[in-house]
Amino acid sequence: MSADIGVTGLAVMGANLARNLARNGYTVALHNRSAAKTDALLAAHGEEGEFVRTETLAELVDALERPRRLLIMVKAGAPVDAVIDDLIPLLDEGDIIIDGGNSFFEETRRREERLREQGLHFVGVGVSGGEEGALNGPSIMPGGSQESYRTLGPMLEKIAADYHGEPCCAWIGTDGAGHYVKMVHNGIEYADMQGIGEAFDIMRSVAGMEPAVQSGVFREWNTTDLASYLIEITAEVLDQEDEETGHPLIDVIVDSAGQKGTGRWTAISGLEVGSPVSAIAESVFARSVSSQRELRQQTAKAFSSGVQETVTGEFAVADDREDFVEDVRKALYASKLVSYAQGLDMLIAAGEEFGWDLDLKSIASLWRAGCIIRADLLDTIMKAYDVAPEQRPRNLLLAEEFTEALNECLPAWRRVVAAAATHGVPTPVFSSSLAYYDSLRRERLPAALTQGLRDYFGAHTYQRVDKEGVFHTLWSGDRSEVSS
Ligand code: 6PG
Repeated sequence: MSADIGVTGLAVMGANLARNLARNGYTVALHNRSAAKTDALLAAHGEEGEFVRTETLAELVDALERPRRLLIMVKAGAPVDAVIDDLIPLLDEGDIIIDGGNSFFEETRRREERLREQGLHFVGVGVSGGEEGALNGPSIMPGGSQESYRTLGPMLEKIAADYHGEPCCAWIGTDGAGHYVKMVHNGIEYADMQGIGEAFDIMRSVAGMEPAVQSGVFREWNTTDLASYLIEITAEVLDQEDEETGHPLIDVIVDSAGQKGTGRWTAISGLEVGSPVSAIAESVFARSVSSQRELRQQTAKAFSSGVQETVTGEFAVADDREDFVEDVRKALYASKLVSYAQGLDMLIAAGEEFGWDLDLKSIASLWRAGCIIRADLLDTIMKAYDVAPEQRPRNLLLAEEFTEALNECLPAWRRVVAAAATHGVPTPVFSSSLAYYDSLRRERLPAALTQGLRDYFGAHTYQRVDKEGVFHTLWSGDRSEVSS
């Protein structure tokens, strides 16, 4: 039997995508380095659809109809290159290799170029939604050539999450565009989660609200404009009791956050394309600080780790808990908007840098279901971009829908950041988001002084607000200005 698609790499994501494809009526050829995984999958789920068992890559390739579609689901990095190297001699012109892992977009660009030169298509596909999404419908962000999408697109759209009848899958752009957009999705995911953590921390530290109580708060917030998957599961996690100790589970989990790298790549790429993704970068740094546990323990002893009282010895904000909670909700919403604004701004910069014509409305539409950052907010983001190109907001915060929302949240946002600083609760995402907002809304920034200082110590020159040209002041001479 000839299969519609082959999947190599049957760890949980690969296995679930293979099952999803089979459940949607495709015949799926299966391959794994050790056949035991293939057999386990067939034994447990072989009834779900048509599968073809193969033991070698050559058998896998032979099992596929032409042009061949081969999905690689191995660990990002060297293993992807190793599989590609093994596949190349077995393939024919026009065949498509798909990488569905979290590969670094520059590697995807390199691989695409290499395979294009050999007459093959290479499609880097961002897949979000974890194990559950892979099985029941993930958000899918494919890059690669438009030609390959004609063959591959319908399959991917069929297995993708469905948002009111629309598939959460669309062609993003050439070469590494799909993996880039997935990377930015993860950057936003980091900032979103860190913001949620800060809301939790300040409500507990300043207002004494225990996890189970906060679980109810998050559940309630999930009926507001904050409604999203991450808020929903926060309520679940905070409500969980540890079976062994009876404590809230959250209190027995080590407070050191792991990371596989996509958030870090987002921050690095933001720096490289010159896009100020400060909230995303802060969320990556927050994970780094969390991992410095030993240092934190020493420092906590040196400085006392408790919540700081105000100079008057009072807790300024916790008097009216309901008002405070509503303030925190607004601070979280505003910070969340900033994370999305920064991520989307970065996509504009990256589009220019890498020659991708990224459609922000379409990208927002793909994130509405299936993925980790799915949120009601994305419908509004789509609306913001659903206008003629010349009317599109240069930054999401400038979209009418959001300027109003931000103005509404602003006093609360400032109160929460001030309270956090007063009481010594770290809120890097809340604070840096507010600083971003305040920087954007300023017509003039102290960067003029930076320029003056650079000119003083390094003759780096500056421009003037009142005339064209480049200037330098003779700082160590008579301090007259010269044109340079
Ligand atoms: C998704 C997730 C997924 C994965 C991340 C987690 O969209 O389904 O983002 O890709 O959970 O890799 O990344 P960290 O381990 O870096 O938190």
